[in-house]
Amino acid sequence: MGIFAVVAIAFWAMLPAYIPNNAAVLFGGGPPIDGGRTWNGKRLLGDGKTWRGTAAGTAIGILVALLLNAIRPSLNHQLDFMLPAFPLTVGFTLAFGAMLGDILASFIKRRSGRERGAAFPFLDQLDFVVVALLLTFLVTPGWFRQTFTLPIIVTVLILTPLLHITTNVIAYLLGLKNEPY
Ligand code: CTP
Ligand code: MG
Repeated sequence: MGIFAVVAIAFWAMLPAYIPNNAAVLFGGGPPIDGGRTWNGKRLLGDGKTWRGTAAGTAIGILVALLLNAIRPSLNHQLDFMLPAFPLTVGFTLAFGAMLGDILASFIKRRSGRERGAAFPFLDQLDFVVVALLLTFLVTPGWFRQTFTLPIIVTVLILTPLLHITTNVIAYLLGLKNEPY
């Protein structure tokens, strides 16, 4: 398979996991998931992880998967490789896994004394990928193995931090995020 096909499939297969974080930034707010609770004097998760942002991110990620399924036949018709379809379960595991990874990262950030919004290189860029892929693997191992071959996984691990940093800098410049990471 050519490099273009590998990058295209990697990006396509991860879109239902990529969009939720941005959706959470746009639609987040309201009561935090941790309800303000602390552990050893530090917030469990912080005000940056809200019910609304998590629900909106998950719902929009599932919608992305359904939308990609709808446009897939005409794209595959024009390509000499196949973009994978997303079973509904996979739409959910990719989207919710991404949100969960981001939440777990906040938990780790608070335990290590980082305030809300503080940067944690590598964790910030890959938390959502790891949990989205892990959850998808656990729930639909067959689909996972078929779609996420080793070259695709390696490409995802290289591509994601680059995309993540680019979109966050744009969101920062647009005034949607307080920090450019
Ligand atoms: N957001 C949300 N719910 C989530 C994730 C994100 O409401 N589950 C919203 C919040 O408004 C958050 C913004 O998206 O402030 C940016 O997300 P992120 O950078 O992940 O959060 P931070 O505020 O930087 O907090 P943390 O340090 O915990 O990552
Ligand atoms: Mg942040």
